[in-house]
Amino acid sequence: MIQKYIYGNPFETEAVTVSLPASAGQPGYGTIDLTDGFCFAYTMTDTDVVYGLGEASRGINKRGYIYVSHCNDTPEHTEDLRSMYGAHNFLVVDGTQTFGLFIDYPGDLTFDIGYTRLDALEISCAGSDLALYVIEGENPYDIVKQFRKIIGRSYIPPKFAFGYSQSRWGYKTKEDFRKVAAGYRENHIPIDMIYMDIDYMQDYKDFTLDEENFSDFPAFVQEMKEQNLRLIPIIDAGVKVEKGYSIYEEGVENRYFCQREDGSDFTAAVWPGDTHFPDVLNPKAREWFGGHYKFLTDQGIEGFWNDMNEPAIFYSTEGKEEAEEIMRRFLSKEEGLSLLDVQEALAKLANNPKDYAAFYHQVNGERIRHDKVNNLFGYNMTRAAGEAFERFAPNTRFLLFSRSSYIGMHRYGGIWTGDNKSWWSHLLLNLKMLPSLNMCGFLYTGADLGGFGADTTRDLLLRWLALGVFTPLMRNHAAWGTREQECYQFGDTADFAHVIGVRYRLVPYLYSEYMKAALSDDLYFKPLSFVYPKDAFARQVEDQLILGDEIMIAPVYTQNAAGRYVYLPEEMKLVKFLPDGSLYEEILPAGHHYVEIALNEVALFIRQGKCIPVAKPAEYVDAIDTTNLTLLGYTGTSYELYEDDGVHKDYENPENRRILTC
Ligand code: GLC
Repeated sequence: MIQKYIYGNPFETEAVTVSLPASAGQPGYGTIDLTDGFCFAYTMTDTDVVYGLGEASRGINKRGYIYVSHCNDTPEHTEDLRSMYGAHNFLVVDGTQTFGLFIDYPGDLTFDIGYTRLDALEISCAGSDLALYVIEGENPYDIVKQFRKIIGRSYIPPKFAFGYSQSRWGYKTKEDFRKVAAGYRENHIPIDMIYMDIDYMQDYKDFTLDEENFSDFPAFVQEMKEQNLRLIPIIDAGVKVEKGYSIYEEGVENRYFCQREDGSDFTAAVWPGDTHFPDVLNPKAREWFGGHYKFLTDQGIEGFWNDMNEPAIFYSTEGKEEAEEIMRRFLSKEEGLSLLDVQEALAKLANNPKDYAAFYHQVNGERIRHDKVNNLFGYNMTRAAGEAFERFAPNTRFLLFSRSSYIGMHRYGGIWTGDNKSWWSHLLLNLKMLPSLNMCGFLYTGADLGGFGADTTRDLLLRWLALGVFTPLMRNHAAWGTREQECYQFGDTADFAHVIGVRYRLVPYLYSEYMKAALSDDLYFKPLSFVYPKDAFARQVEDQLILGDEIMIAPVYTQNAAGRYVYLPEEMKLVKFLPDGSLYEEILPAGHHYVEIALNEVALFIRQGKCIPVAKPAEYVDAIDTTNLTLLGYTGTSYELYEDDGVHKDYENPENRRILTC
């Protein structure tokens, strides 16, 4: 049962797609205080577990820390991080009382989950215009499923998006891309996509191509397609301020950019230098911005990643002037000003809250200050693209994911979890975030495998890929200036070909489970406790996940480890994909086990009474033979396979489902 409570006059975020009547009175859980903004307070008992919050630091159980929904460009994903790129205001308290909450509020919102006081859950914000949804159900899993029903179907990518992909900030020329293609194809490491980071553009201008390096782009897109590779370009939020650049001119002329209070276009520097932000909250501007993706789809492009859409600000014109003034005063030796003051002024330039309160959106005739709706920008930029694809090609799926997001965006695209580092702790963080993201509707997700910032190592990349085998988005991405991270950069490539090869053997199963989860508003990744609610130990497991209905995954996330401890809530069949192409299978009883998993092996656990389909090896998704699948698992069982053409949207066709028996 879902109850909706309205406070004040909430901004219509369109996160929820079902219209529910507002309830009168107080929610049945906690207390609400409206004296100073909004505050929901609830007293937790010792054993209460709190799930949710989507993209956030720390564990599957969010208890014991403080999180702030504030979409922000935050490349340092340390344990003390409170805000990331997404704002996912949904959680479930499971314990003495079990209930879910969704706070539909587009400004900053704080979740103090036993941080200030161990037993106190407090959700608060400065504003008091919001919608609160309170969800009751049999258990957390049931509550999540009810929530998912009211926020609409999760985004469904084309099937090729389940392939492996390579990215790097720094590929600049066709030759760079050809080298990557050859590095993979010659070494028989399966791959489907290569990502184009900002250098493909002319001076980082959206919807342009570097004229010198990418002349005759359609022919190049075709050349890559002939090698069964798709190019996936980035689109950034900021539009370069440059006279004569058509996107800039159109935006200025039609007043499609976010404006300052005095009506002038707000200017912030990002990669291209000075930019204006398209006012994607304004339906007209959104349609205009989305329409420009056609520049690339017309040239054969079938997917995009949307970036810098918190929106990230390196510095605003006003911020820069203030910093320059301090520098001038310092240089003229003003008394009392030290170099530290200059340093402080410079440090405050990026993503400064003052700047986010200095520009406005036009929404249905009303002007709204950006900071009050900050968390909706990335959502609506991605929606701009999603809605445009619906217009250009209503029956075709495009690959689309974003860095910034809010619940509601999950209908238009997926997300990647931003600028992580080549750290073992980030491999584990990647794993922990997955079920929380799924709870908030984001099914098509993944992290930068191998780590974005810092230098990776061969073993970290292999272990991370062995987790990536199971994440819908499987992309290796690295930052400019870091050690080269493509799988052929580490000597012997056979181990990489094998680990990624396992992904391709599993694509029929992973795709089928993804589609089933998306089509029935279910989870692709679940915490163990959702499947084994009565198992007190399963409730505490933070480093294993249930994938779909059939398997459990338990990746190795420590360096120099020969394997790891795994907890089995029930008997399961351990399957290891060995580098020689053979399988190791062993039935393990319920309980704790040390399982050896070598660097070049991929392990999974099949739940009792279940089986999964496995394909023959293939080097790209279209080459996977789904007519010839082997079943792995318990004999005498069956599996319902979902399969469609992976391109169109004929999801409900009964022919998409067939039963396979083991
Ligand atoms: C941001 C993105 C990263 C990208 C870089 C350059 O940091 O998060 O993925 O490579 O910008 O475009």
